This record gives sequence, structure tokens and C-alpha cells, in this order.
Amino acid sequence: MPSVFIKTYGCQMNVRDSEQVQRQLAGRGYTLAPSEAEADVILLNTCSVRDMAEQKALGRAAHLSALKEKKPNLVLGVMGCMAQRIGDDILDRLPDVDLVVGTQKFHQVADYVEQLRTDKLDGTADALRILDTEAEAGSQNTIREHALAPKQVSAFVSIMQGCNMHCTYCIVPTTRGAERGRPIAEIVAEVRRLAEQGVKEVTLLGQIVNLYGRHEFPKDDRGRSPFVQLLEAVCAVDGIERVRFTSPHPIGFREDLIEAFATLPELCEHVHLPLQSGSNRILKAMHRGYTVEKFYTLAEKLRAAHADMAITTDIIVGYPSETEEEFQETAAAVREVAFDNAFIFRYSPRSGTPAAEKEDQLSDDEKMARNQELLRLIDEINAPRIEAMLGSETEILVEGESKNNPARFQGRTRGNKLVLIEANERFRGEILPVRINHSTGFTHYAEPALVGVS
Ligand code: 5AD
Ligand code: SF4
Repeated sequence: MPSVFIKTYGCQMNVRDSEQVQRQLAGRGYTLAPSEAEADVILLNTCSVRDMAEQKALGRAAHLSALKEKKPNLVLGVMGCMAQRIGDDILDRLPDVDLVVGTQKFHQVADYVEQLRTDKLDGTADALRILDTEAEAGSQNTIREHALAPKQVSAFVSIMQGCNMHCTYCIVPTTRGAERGRPIAEIVAEVRRLAEQGVKEVTLLGQIVNLYGRHEFPKDDRGRSPFVQLLEAVCAVDGIERVRFTSPHPIGFREDLIEAFATLPELCEHVHLPLQSGSNRILKAMHRGYTVEKFYTLAEKLRAAHADMAITTDIIVGYPSETEEEFQETAAAVREVAFDNAFIFRYSPRSGTPAAEKEDQLSDDEKMARNQELLRLIDEINAPRIEAMLGSETEILVEGESKNNPARFQGRTRGNKLVLIEANERFRGEILPVRINHSTGFTHYAEPALVGVS
């Protein structure tokens, strides 16, 4: 049987898209290859958000070309955001790449792979190369099948594609297109199928997830947004015990959504809410559409809706023309909101976006120094929180083997904190009460705290 190796860069959306491709290839008899060297088909699912992610994938594709010397029938493909952005260029620069598929054509990958393999096995002299980066109406509805591992309890569900916000630094509207939502009934049916297969936790995915359906579906008679209607329907699915979503935008995060954290017990009390900057001048330059004060109010309301609310964020340091004082405003905002965690990104100019055209770009050293300072600040803010967790009891959903150490199982608290326990099949897929007894930064080590066992 032919085998495929899929390497995924970037966000959860990409992870989900790779699953869809894997599922379709599995339907045609492809197995998962344990390594690139053993695969008949290698697919790189790429990210364009920062230049570094693109360089990594390009480097990998170039490196993998060498495998073709020994295996001329190997199919090497590049999919996703970078394929969408610079598909022609990839084919020009990397003569060993056979297949380039954009973000609206993941559902075509299996067909294309089969075409290429037939062509190669026939020994057709002028081997075919395929590029498909067309837009396709309805492509948001094609990411709907899953390749669940045995006893998989947590799954991503893609509910929409694209983004209409046009933040000045961001390439996503170019790579993923305009906002398009899937019908509620289809999403709920997918979640139901997942629950029937044992999934207990779903994470709803979209580039701007809280604005789901705003162009397609009306508010209901209680004035609730399509996203809140969807959340309610997903929470009501039998067997689904935890619901998450990522990533929302502070714009459009209205009362109905805040209230949902108080009224829907399945909705986990964690929000990943990108702040990007704590300076109102920079936020304006970024076209983010809110002030830092508005963000504070939103964070307060979220914490009022649920006592244990965890708030994490994304921050960009070194946006063009950001002064030291403006960076310090971001540091002050990080302290003020006391984020549970933050992904800090050094601004990376993306060709074709307005911010990339600005003249006052910061140096790498300046961006690096600001990055380090914020990382230290996040650690400092969270030290007392982590200390307070020691000895406490909490509940985790046990996902299975830890990524770094298969002797341990990993799980997450409702607040999305990563917890490791000793591996034990009995606990796989269970919601397990645990006692935290040790922490190294953002990883917590725990033991089961079973009722009746002290
Ligand atoms: N440079 C650096 N970080 C970026 N992000 C998006 N575009 C850029 C860029 N050009 C970050 C934002 C976003 C996260 C997914 O990536 O913080 O929330
Ligand atoms: Fe990019 Fe997010 Fe802004 Fe959309 S909302 S343009 S995805 S940063």
C-alpha cells in the first residue's frame, strides 16, 4: 500500500486541513508513513504568517528533493498558505516539487496525488506537475471529515474560512480569502458524528471565529449572533463535555458571547484573545478597531462571567515605528490584564500588506529585546499563579501520550493548562480529577486525585 507523510506548519487550522487530506488519502488506501524517507508521498502544509515559517518550509522542500534521487516516483507536494501566496514561484524555484495546492483546494489533493502517481508509474517522460490555487465557492464546506486516532477524545472542527478584517500586518486575508461560514446544521452533524466516535472535546476553528456567519445567517429572536447560536447547539450534542473556540477578535465579542461562559457549562473558561499591542496609536495603525481600554473592559467582563476565566493572547512586538514608550504601553497592558500566557511575535513584514511598505521598520535586535522582555514579564506574572496551583486539585481531559515523553500522558484543564500524569491506559480519554504536585513553567505534573484515594 502506498504511504503518505504530512508535515504541518503553523496554526490549528492547518492541523485540521492536514487531517482532511490524510482522511481522503486513507480512503484511497494510503497509510501513514513513519518518516519522510519511507513515504511514497510527502506533503508539506505551510504557513505564511511570518517569513520564518515560509523559509522553514522552503528549506524542508529543498532538502526533501534529495530523496528523489533514490525514489524517482516520490510525489512531493506543498499545500496551504504559502502555496496559495507564491505557488508559481515554488514551482520555479523547486523543480522537484510536483504538486502545489492552495487553501481552497485541500479536498482535491487526493485526486491530484493519484494523477501524479499514475503518471509517474506509467513512466510518462514529461512528468506532470500540478498547480491549483484557484478560489472555489463553497470550499469552506469541504473540511469536514476526520482521521481520528484510536480513542481520540479531542478534535478540531473548522467552522469558517477567511477573514475580512484587513489588519495591516496580516497576510491571512490574502492566503485564506474572504469570510465564509459553514451552515450550523452541517457543523452540528459533524460534531455529532465525532461524539458518536468517542470525542468529548471540540475546538471550533476560524480565523475570526466569533464573527462566524455574520454575512450568511441572521441573529435569532433573542438577538444572539450566529456564533452564539452555534455554540449553544454544539454544547447540546450528547457526549460533548467540553467546547472551545479559537481565535476570536475583540471586535464583535459582544454580551451574548460573554454570557455564554456563564450559561453553557460545556464551554470551557478559556479565551485566546489577541491584543497585538497595548498602544492605542499602534492599534490604530494596525486597523485593529479597538482601544486598549476597550480590551480591558472586555477582559473584566469575561472574568466577571466566570471566576476561573483564563485569558491568553497574541502580541506583536516591533510593528513599524513602534517606539520604546509604545512598547512599554504593551508591557503595561500585559501586566494590567495579567494574561495566563501570551504568544509573542516579532513583526515580520509580509509583502503586499500595508505595514510592510512602511519605512520605519525596526531592527531585528530591537524586536528580539522586546520579545525577551515580554516573555520574562509573562513568566513573572504567572509565577504566583503557578505557585498557587501546587497541591490544588483540578480536572483534566486525558488526551493520551505526551508529545515529548510517551511514558507520560497529557491532558488539559478547562482553562487549557497542560498537565502531565504517568501513562495509564485506564485514564486515556477520561475526565480525571488530579492533584498538581510540580510545575515547570507552563507544564504541570500531577497525580490522579481519585475519590476515596488520598
Ligand atoms: N508578523 C508577526 N506576527 C504576525 N502575526 C500575524 N501577522 C504577523 C506578522 N506579519 C501574529 C498575530 C496573530 C498571530 C496568529 O500571528 O499576533 O494573532
Ligand atoms: Fe489577520 Fe486575524 Fe487580523 Fe484577520 S483578524 S487580518 S486573521 S490578524
